[in-house]
Amino acid sequence: MNPFVYQSLPTRVVFGWGKLATLADEIDRLGAKRALILTTPEQQELGEEVARLLGKRSAGVYPYAVMHVPLEVAQAARVEAARLGADCCVAVGGGSTIGLGKAIAMDSGLPIVAVPTTYAGSEMTPIYGLTENRLKKTGRDINVLPKTVIYDAQLTLSLPAQISACSGMNAMAHAVEALYAQDANPIIGFMAEESIRALAQSLPLIVNDPEHPQARSQAQYGAWLAGICLGSVGMALHHKLCHTLGGTFNLPHAQAHAIVLPHAAHYNREAAAGPLQRAARALGGSEASEVGALLYALNERLGIPLSLAELGMPEGGPAEAAQIACASPYYNPRPFEQGPIEDLLTRAWKGLAPA
Ligand SMILES: NC(=O)c1ccc[n+]([C@@H]2O[C@H](COP(=O)([O-])OP(=O)(O)OC[C@H]3O[C@@H](n4cnc5c(N)ncnc54)[C@H](O)[C@@H]3O)[C@@H](O)[C@H]2O)c1
Repeated sequence: MNPFVYQSLPTRVVFGWGKLATLADEIDRLGAKRALILTTPEQQELGEEVARLLGKRSAGVYPYAVMHVPLEVAQAARVEAARLGADCCVAVGGGSTIGLGKAIAMDSGLPIVAVPTTYAGSEMTPIYGLTENRLKKTGRDINVLPKTVIYDAQLTLSLPAQISACSGMNAMAHAVEALYAQDANPIIGFMAEESIRALAQSLPLIVNDPEHPQARSQAQYGAWLAGICLGSVGMALHHKLCHTLGGTFNLPHAQAHAIVLPHAAHYNREAAAGPLQRAARALGGSEASEVGALLYALNERLGIPLSLAELGMPEGGPAEAAQIACASPYYNPRPFEQGPIEDLLTRAWKGLAPA
């Protein structure tokens, strides 16, 4: 057996339909008394509902979270948290809202209770991101890891089918890359495989019926496991490419992940044949060489836009992105090769299947 290091992260997870109702108890458990509730402007109403649920434990609703945590947004939120005398943050929403909670925690040490409503997985990671002058910096700090996460799939019913599909494939990308991570280990491997299976089964059901309760629960279960994968081991080519596409071309996060994943997995099919065979099995196939095609077919079945061009990437984008990615590569089972990476991005740009 290969040597490995495994360290679990100390987040308390409360999972179940309707479990938002336990939020006040969870805040009491942390010894906190005044929770600042964070949301995006789009989810302000949900934030107000949470404030009513918390009654005197609510310090107020701060509905200004936006994608990629601009530094000025983080600073304004930190000032507001201090002004209101908040002693914890409740982040209700997707990765953008949880990211704002992390920015406050970095500065003040306030504990976070995360109530995720997408499948992005930020709630299970000690990874933060801050954007200054259009440049996003990310890092790891155990102090930003949420203390408690409440997974209530009822809150995901309102996530539109298309966004659910892309967000679910974003989660799947964490699990696929965890299988061939440089610091992969057996526990994370089990979680990754189970996550891929749960997402592959549930996402088509959600696209068919966004209010399917069992499918919503199963997808959230898969997203939880994928979030643990992302928080525990290093990511590779796929995540490097998606960070480049988001940072340089401002492409939407979850959609870009969904489109690139089949191509990145296909690129690694020989160098990571063993791990990707596990992914293939979880997707209903049998060989690592099939993974790219299986993921591409799943995207098609989910009605996800298949091309980076549709997301607004310019024609010269694949060459530029390949060059940027290769200038500061991550670990990857197959070394970064600029020509083949440009080819894979060109196919992704055109919406073609991996080849
Ligand atoms: N630090 C990490 O570990 C980590 C992990 C994953 C993603 N991220 C970051 O998170 C961001 C993306 O997060 P995201 O994909 O979850 O999107 P998001 O948080 O930006 O949400 C997208 C939109 O959907 C809305 N929304 C969310 N849940 C909803 C629901 N249930 N019903 C209706 N609308 C809903 C939001 O209010 C927002 O308007 C990126 O900045 C990414 O870099 C960070």
